Amino acid sequence: MKKLILACLLAAAPMLTLASEGAALAKFQVDLGNRAGLQRGARTFVNYCVSCHSAEFMRYSRMAQDLGLTPEQVQANMIFNGGDVHQVMRVALGKKDGAKWFGQAPPDLTLAARSRGPDWLYAYLRSFYLDPSRPFGVNNTVFPNAAMPHVLANLQGAQELRDGHLQQVSAGTLKPAEYDAMIRDLVNFMVYIGEPAKLVRYGLGVKVMLFLLVFAGLAYMLKREYWRDVH
Ligand code: HEC
Repeated sequence: MKKLILACLLAAAPMLTLASEGAALAKFQVDLGNRAGLQRGARTFVNYCVSCHSAEFMRYSRMAQDLGLTPEQVQANMIFNGGDVHQVMRVALGKKDGAKWFGQAPPDLTLAARSRGPDWLYAYLRSFYLDPSRPFGVNNTVFPNAAMPHVLANLQGAQELRDGHLQQVSAGTLKPAEYDAMIRDLVNFMVYIGEPAKLVRYGLGVKVMLFLLVFAGLAYMLKREYWRDVH
């Protein structure tokens, strides 16, 4: 009996820690149906993230196809390292240089939305605050002492941590709601690169539902036809 209770507790432990971590983070509503949003997220990602981070499991051409962009559009507007649209999102920065410059090499981001979760990402990218004791002058409430600089600071403006709360102390080029919307698109895009097949699956889901509806209609008509003679 004791063993059984212990086993139950052990099985429940990850759920408990997940629950307690989740409590601090607002729930992020993933939306992969908004194609324009995913395209905006992709633009932010290639402009602001791929300079340090790779997404080694994501091919530009696959992204173009899934997001309804032409390979030429992606080649011309989204690839800055001279690479080709059939390549994966590789970064010029070598792992060793990354570790030397930042103390910690920027990790590959293909699976970040799966390892950290969208709630975490959405909170992380909005929670940088000024901290002169850190090498880049910023810290993060969600990822304390992160080695990443606040690369979106000119858009968001600066925040300070006062009595445990983040407070905006200088404005960026975006209003807070606009910044949040941009991060929402970016996180949705990161969820997409974590599992591109999701988009295909969602599309398939709609088709299957339509088929079932049509089929149910046909079956109903057939039933009426058969029973007409019986009555
Ligand atoms: C100037 C280089 C640089 C740029 C640009 C940059 N990052 Fe980072 N990022 C880092 C470094 C360095 C780390 C490692 C932080 C650590 O482990 O302390 C990191 C860590 C992260 C992590 C945490 C990964 C994990 O699971 O530990 C996420 C998520 C992330 N970055 C997202 C982004 C996004 C999204 C962008 C674009 C808006 C971006 N980064 C742009 C340098 C950068």
